Amino acid sequence: MTWKHNFDTSPDVELQGALRKDFHWGYATAAAQIEGAWNHDGKGPSIWDKFCHTPGKVKDDSTNEDATRAYDLYKEDVALMKSYGVTAYRFSLAWSRIVPLGGAEDPVNEPGIDYYNRLINELLANSITPFVTLFHWDTPQTLEDRYGGMLNQERYAPDFLRYARVCFDRFGDRVKHWITYNEPGVYTLAGYAGGMHAPGRSSFRDRNEEGDSSTEPFIVAHTELVTHAQAVKLYREEFKPSQKGVIGITLHGNYSDPWDVNDPADVAAAERARQFEIAWFADPIYGTGDYPACMRDQLGDRLPRFTAEEKSLVHGSSDFYGMNTYTTFFVKHRTEEPDINDHKGNVEKLDTNSEGKSRGPESDTYWLRTAPEGFGKLLRWVWNRYHVPIYMTENGTTAKGEVAPTDDVLNDTFRIEFFQGYLRELARAVQDGVDIRSYFGWTFTDNWEWAAGYTDRFGVTFVDFESEEKTRYPKRSAYFLQDYFQHLIARE
Ligand code: BGC
Repeated sequence: MTWKHNFDTSPDVELQGALRKDFHWGYATAAAQIEGAWNHDGKGPSIWDKFCHTPGKVKDDSTNEDATRAYDLYKEDVALMKSYGVTAYRFSLAWSRIVPLGGAEDPVNEPGIDYYNRLINELLANSITPFVTLFHWDTPQTLEDRYGGMLNQERYAPDFLRYARVCFDRFGDRVKHWITYNEPGVYTLAGYAGGMHAPGRSSFRDRNEEGDSSTEPFIVAHTELVTHAQAVKLYREEFKPSQKGVIGITLHGNYSDPWDVNDPADVAAAERARQFEIAWFADPIYGTGDYPACMRDQLGDRLPRFTAEEKSLVHGSSDFYGMNTYTTFFVKHRTEEPDINDHKGNVEKLDTNSEGKSRGPESDTYWLRTAPEGFGKLLRWVWNRYHVPIYMTENGTTAKGEVAPTDDVLNDTFRIEFFQGYLRELARAVQDGVDIRSYFGWTFTDNWEWAAGYTDRFGVTFVDFESEEKTRYPKRSAYFLQDYFQHLIARE
């Protein structure tokens, strides 16, 4: 098609070559959203397998049994990615494909190992660098049944560490970029505070039979932080000396801007919102080594305390800051006492500010608006607070009306504008001295968007989910990113 490569980069001439020569770019995915083959070749069930087979939990009543069939079609996918010009690919390993029952004493599933070996080798044969996430939300169901998964840090830790050890041992000769957890905050908030994601626990009895939104999210977060650090210690002591890779964590975080910039209470509320969302995880790892004071003030003893040993283990436990971000909200202070189930810092998050300015054009996802300015502010906020290299590990959007692979849909200007806006901000931040080393668009193909099922399409590739082959159709944004990165990445 003639529209593939005809983007005008001249308005951004000052950004040419802004990114380092060895900048990695490509797409990110997650096993449960793409692989399918949910019970093939010995794979055990994950909490998402159970959740999506429970009526009423997923918007379109779909399951991820087949998803995009990436398990079968990985070769075609790597070839398509290659044609998109990527230099790297971020994907996650399904724990219950590798250790079907999940536990430290449970057997390893060799066909699962073989699958990831084939995928990694295919990527390397195509000069695509693998970035591997150990955990993207799919806890083995058996561990949930045995002891409540991450609610039980003591029993969970050895199981996660054994799984991590198997991965480092079997793949670490070729994988040099490791991510322990993807968005520990979203896992715990959506799964244990809102109860809309697996394992589906909350205080809301109309939604979930069990759970306590006022305590469990903070307990699970603590387990994630400490076991992340334990896995990093394991890697650094036993694998890194010979394998020489880097390892870190990926945190979610949208930007919070004050609703009224002239109201000090809103300015403080926006900062508090950033700390509840981001510093909750980032301060213990990269900052003070403890949870933010504003969280302790509001939550008291409902926020766990690090033992001295945990504190020193967690502090400094990430070689980089893995950043997933999508949008910005306007944040207004509240005058009432915080709700017992509040986890945002007692604020209201709004779509317009006090002057009626919108946070950005609507996508096809209720919480997501295109808001590049906030992204620029977020990059600087994170950099100024923590001063560690940033790996952008996810960023992208849905677009309204993407229901069939028509020419109009494939010419996805809404997504192109999103990417262009965000990448401009990224390149400018780099020019201002922020150390950014990668960018992964979310996502490679349309996929199974968790509780939204197949309704939210984030891909730069359209997938016909009705077809047996899950036929892929490139959207124009894939070619835009290819051209734009050629412009942004330095050659010499
Ligand atoms: C997650 C992805 C998800 C995306 C869009 C991120 O929070 O890591 O798995 O599909 O956002 O909602």
